[in-house]
Amino acid sequence: MGEYCLEMIGITKQFPGVLALDNARLELRPGEVHCLLGENGAGKSTMMKILAGAQPMDTGEIRLDGEAVHIQSPYHAQQLGISMIYQEFNLSPYLSVAENIFLGREPRIGRTPFVDWRRMRQDAREVLAQIRADIDVTRPVNELSVAQQQMVEVAKALSVNAKIIVMDEPSATLTDHELTALFDLIKTLRRQNIGIIYISHRLEEIFQIGSRVTVMRDGQHVDTRNVCDLTREDIIRMMVGRELTEEYPKEYFALGRERLRLDGLSRKGAFEDVSFALHEGEIVGLTGLVGAGRTEVARAIFGADKKTSGSILLDNDSIEVRSPRDAIRQGIGLLTEDRKGQGLVLGMTVRENTTLANLSSLLKGPFIDRKKERAAAERFVQDLHIKTPSIEQVAQNLSGGNQQKVVLAKWLFTQSKVLIFDEPTRGIDVGAKAEIFKLMNELVREGVAILMISSELPEVLGMCDRILVMHEGRLAGELSGKEATQEAIMRLATGAANAA
Ligand SMILES: Nc1ncnc2c1ncn2[C@@H]1O[C@H](COP(=O)(O)OP(=O)(O)OP(=O)(O)O)[C@@H](O)[C@H]1O
Ligand SMILES: [Mg+2]
Repeated sequence: MGEYCLEMIGITKQFPGVLALDNARLELRPGEVHCLLGENGAGKSTMMKILAGAQPMDTGEIRLDGEAVHIQSPYHAQQLGISMIYQEFNLSPYLSVAENIFLGREPRIGRTPFVDWRRMRQDAREVLAQIRADIDVTRPVNELSVAQQQMVEVAKALSVNAKIIVMDEPSATLTDHELTALFDLIKTLRRQNIGIIYISHRLEEIFQIGSRVTVMRDGQHVDTRNVCDLTREDIIRMMVGRELTEEYPKEYFALGRERLRLDGLSRKGAFEDVSFALHEGEIVGLTGLVGAGRTEVARAIFGADKKTSGSILLDNDSIEVRSPRDAIRQGIGLLTEDRKGQGLVLGMTVRENTTLANLSSLLKGPFIDRKKERAAAERFVQDLHIKTPSIEQVAQNLSGGNQQKVVLAKWLFTQSKVLIFDEPTRGIDVGAKAEIFKLMNELVREGVAILMISSELPEVLGMCDRILVMHEGRLAGELSGKEATQEAIMRLATGAANAA
């Protein structure tokens, strides 16, 4: 047997107007964590969809343990020992954990068509025990945390005896704590000699768990190297194709008048007595562990959830925000973390998505000024480097990171006074992140007040003037962006500051 459990050679894939893969390649060793890196739209997910039988390739060859295979379908890939954990999970929300793990392969009672529930639950418990996941197998999947759902995905992969597991941005929705659990899990899988392909835009993770990296750019193979021979700067240079001068291009502006104030805002069961102000010229970070109530505060400001008490003031006037539509009309925008659910209409084009939230600004008499609309969309595609063959591409066909940029464009186009960014750079490559931060600077310069919710402490520290930290539904403290440290934030976020 050769050195590699998987070889993908000379893979090419053309979509209408886009050469997604151009003679790309990848070799995987058993027991290694192979990180697949590249900018948004570089072709990473497409490469993995081909491997998982979800998409056919135009030309190229795939070998497993040295033997050429023709992968016909996702089911076939699974039989060959290839499991894929998608960027968006593939679980059935209302089915139990056990049902999800054995979906389509349920054990039967003897030769009857009846499902052997007892055995299925027992088998499910066993695979979960292999990865030391303590999850009740009878619970419906939609009651689980994202991390637990991920464990179910991995258990599913193990239960079909996967030799190769692909994880496409598995960490994008995890907290630090959950990430540690995922990394432990990956170590367990490595010991079982499973080859893992790991896609992530968080470069620090590469150094924590990666064995080797392959970098792709514009559908092509750039290089494959051992992680231990590389620095963060090396990786960025390989990805972006040039030196990135600054990851966090923070600019400071004079504080202007107060734009938004929360006064004792509460929502029963979610958060309590939250008070703070946002001024013109500043970016305020709102951070804390996942579940601390940050997103809930944002949703209440935006009118997506009802507050139970307290008040919201916009430009010193008390306002009632009854619905998101109401919020947008008054000048408050919320860029959500869940682009599929709330941010984008996947069946609409880049142009339509961009202008959707502010069509009234495009009216010429009773009609929409199409020329103006196209110009606006074109400008955002350029400014945000959205990788798309044209503004008429449907959002669904864009890569994950580029979809996120379209959500951003949509909110920029609303010309809000207050913008709330909830995990704005999730799934965005390092180069594009820096571009988004520059754009935030522009907005702040023009008088927009920004509230930035993020779990990525380096970006909070790098871009915020002030940092508010939440713990269990309450504000635990405030730090100045210049003086704060990760440790100080974590102390507040975990409640350790109060105990001390
Ligand atoms: N079904 C499709 N139809 C048309 N174009 C597509 C389709 N799927 C992907 N593409 C295009 O192929 C290119 C590669 O996309 P892919 O999703 O593989 O990128 P990626 O490296 O995974 O990026 P990201 O980091 O943003 O997830 C992109 O330009 C994308 O728009
Ligand atoms: Mg992708």
